[in-house]
Amino acid sequence: MSAHDLLMRRALKLAENSFYISDPNPRVGCVIARDGAIIAEGWTQRAGEAHAEIHALQKIDFTCVDADIYVSLEPCSHIGRTGPCVDAIISARPSRVFIAMRDPNPVVNGVGIQKLRSAGIEVVENVCAVESACLNPGFIRRMNGGRPYVRAKIAATLDGKTATQNGKSQWITGHDARADVHKWRARSSVMLTGIGTLLADNPRLNARLDADALQPDKVIVDSKLRTPQTARIFDDDSRVVVATTTQENRNGSLSAEVINCGDGPRVNLDRLVDWFTKQNYNEVFVEAGNILTGAFLEKGLIDELIIYLAPQVMGDVGRGMFGIEGITSLDQVRKFEFSDIRRIGADVRLICVPIDTGIEK
Ligand SMILES: NC(=O)c1ccc[n+]([C@@H]2O[C@H](COP(=O)([O-])OP(=O)(O)OC[C@H]3O[C@@H](n4cnc5c(N)ncnc54)[C@H](OP(=O)(O)O)[C@@H]3O)[C@@H](O)[C@H]2O)c1
Repeated sequence: MSAHDLLMRRALKLAENSFYISDPNPRVGCVIARDGAIIAEGWTQRAGEAHAEIHALQKIDFTCVDADIYVSLEPCSHIGRTGPCVDAIISARPSRVFIAMRDPNPVVNGVGIQKLRSAGIEVVENVCAVESACLNPGFIRRMNGGRPYVRAKIAATLDGKTATQNGKSQWITGHDARADVHKWRARSSVMLTGIGTLLADNPRLNARLDADALQPDKVIVDSKLRTPQTARIFDDDSRVVVATTTQENRNGSLSAEVINCGDGPRVNLDRLVDWFTKQNYNEVFVEAGNILTGAFLEKGLIDELIIYLAPQVMGDVGRGMFGIEGITSLDQVRKFEFSDIRRIGADVRLICVPIDTGIEK
């Protein structure tokens, strides 16, 4: 691995500091080095605050003559909530800027690079591009005009059971796995659950971790508007939205934001995901029972499965992971590949991505 790759890898690592704070902006890391030695580091702060390059440049009084800048995403060239980072870089006078990947945002895409080159700064592109893209799957998809990136989490026994027949699932997995779930919640723009889980478990669905973290919005899929006003999901200040099939809102008696995603007996999940897209959500985290998780799977709406397996067996009467029907032969099964497998405390965490949903996204 080259010295440039190593410095970019450091920038990618720094970008992880933005996981819980930068949404809806991308997670970006920046390293400034002279003769291979790091002189400043930065990462994206909350929306409206410093981007990674500015966060790093602040530490060296915005001057880095003859230095190299390594940044995991093309510096912005437009005035958004903050000023253009390319202008600050040009005034700092580095000799080279290494960029992992172009910013997919159509108002930047290549313009930042062009501005740097026009100012006489050498730009090297595509240094660790694949690794950079992995940091921001939802942002990249959104900027390319697509829907948000959807993860579904499942906690199951060794035999794939998620709850007892009478609906008890707390807790199948151990403390460490549950703490890990809070990190995924914190990096998500929105949490999604079904009315079945809300009524059975009464979850808060917030992100509880020892770090500065934005709270995700929360959405309940509830066709008949059965959500009780006393549900713990309303206990904090975060935005809670009930997606339903009726506009009536029980004559206004439920004091929550209610959206109508109905054209049939149940919430239309495609319409719900369209609504997510309009909200500029990057990443959606589904924590629901087997009915709603199965419905998402059937529609090809799951981009990543996060499955925690506990070393327990519940037997065949327990509830499975996906309430889907109609698969009668092996060539109809939904196929995934493992992208990560690791032990979390007493449990195992599997991350899988679909390789063939058979359904147009
Ligand atoms: N182990 C785990 O990881 C885990 C995680 C969460 C929950 N759970 C367990 O799962 C159980 C609850 O599971 P569940 O399957 O009953 O609840 P769920 O999947 O959370 O919610 C299902 C409900 O969502 C509503 N819904 C609205 N539109 C829908 C659509 N298009 N497709 C599918 N559903 C739609 C339906 O009720 P309406 O028709 O009334 O709208 C449906 O009954 C509980 O025992 C809970 O403890 C386990």
